[in-house]
Amino acid sequence: MATKFRKIGVLTSGGDAPGMNNAVRAITRAALASGVEVIGINGGYSGLVNDNVRALTAQDVSNVVTLGGTMLYSDRCAEFKTEEGMARAIATCKKYEIDGIVACGGDGTFRGATDLSNRGIPTIGIPCTIDNDITSTEYAIGYDTAMNTVVEMVDRLRDTCESHARCNVVEVMGNNAGGIAIQTAIACGAVACVINEVPFDEAAMTEKIKRLKAAGKRGFIVIVSELIPDYADPAFAKRIQENTGVETKFARLAHVVRGGNPTLRDRVAGARMGSRAVAELLAGKSNLVICEQGNEIVTVDINLAQTADRLYKGKDGMEVLEKYSKEEQQEILAAGEKKRAYFKTMSALLDEISG
Ligand code: F6P
Repeated sequence: MATKFRKIGVLTSGGDAPGMNNAVRAITRAALASGVEVIGINGGYSGLVNDNVRALTAQDVSNVVTLGGTMLYSDRCAEFKTEEGMARAIATCKKYEIDGIVACGGDGTFRGATDLSNRGIPTIGIPCTIDNDITSTEYAIGYDTAMNTVVEMVDRLRDTCESHARCNVVEVMGNNAGGIAIQTAIACGAVACVINEVPFDEAAMTEKIKRLKAAGKRGFIVIVSELIPDYADPAFAKRIQENTGVETKFARLAHVVRGGNPTLRDRVAGARMGSRAVAELLAGKSNLVICEQGNEIVTVDINLAQTADRLYKGKDGMEVLEKYSKEEQQEILAAGEKKRAYFKTMSALLDEISG
């Protein structure tokens, strides 16, 4: 263990995710067990900018395993991105002698983590986002709980659709990533699903609903991922009603999907990733994201993870690969390929089994 570590800071940033508390608990307990003090940073990066921190004891993280949200609170801190905000954040780290930080959140959180690392504060990221949209990891904390909440909500809508011979379009969160939508569409027996990753054939869906209605089907569920123009919209439900003759309602689940007690999957992911992050920091590592690949917890360089992410999301072009070695380029491209293949397969599965 690198002896320079006396204190580590922990923060949760961006959209909260069920399981964040489990990660904070694991980080705290693992660090304390190694004789390292823990500073909880309140409200994400704004806690560093505004000197809002508190020491965490083993008792402070007692009884949080079942709790949704984040006991450290969260924020999307614009000030942290300014030179002045960053200087204040570094001053807070110095004041409390924080030797390293574990930052729990999504891609925005990791950009902040890199900025801290570049200014001499070793930082490790833990993926926590219900969107599960971090390209280098197969799993992000919060995804499972969010999907189970959607399933519970849609099952209820399904009951009433069946009673009244209706269709319900259900919009779910995901921030341009269709993971929640496609998985829950399969799990809830939806007739169709609209996601960004795979082209949607509205005419084929209309024909399918008409055919199934003629064969005696009464209730229909269509899942739509948020932010998709023309579809994540009540007007889509109106079109379905006009084109199929099936009365159609629109429901936006919105932030209800982000709350609630973490599932076993998210509790265990929080524990595994939290413990690993501390081990990496104490081994003198920095600028890493803790990832899950093939059910193994692995680490990925944070810059590489962000490049893979930006490339996959179309925010950068192929020229960003130039600074990487051949092996790294392959790793970056493979991460995106894996995501693309996953959505294609899941979408084909939904088509195959939805009537
Ligand atoms: O990233 C998590 C997420 O819940 C997205 O699914 C959604 O688009 C966004 O955050 C909503 O953000 P806010 O909480 O700021 O409304």
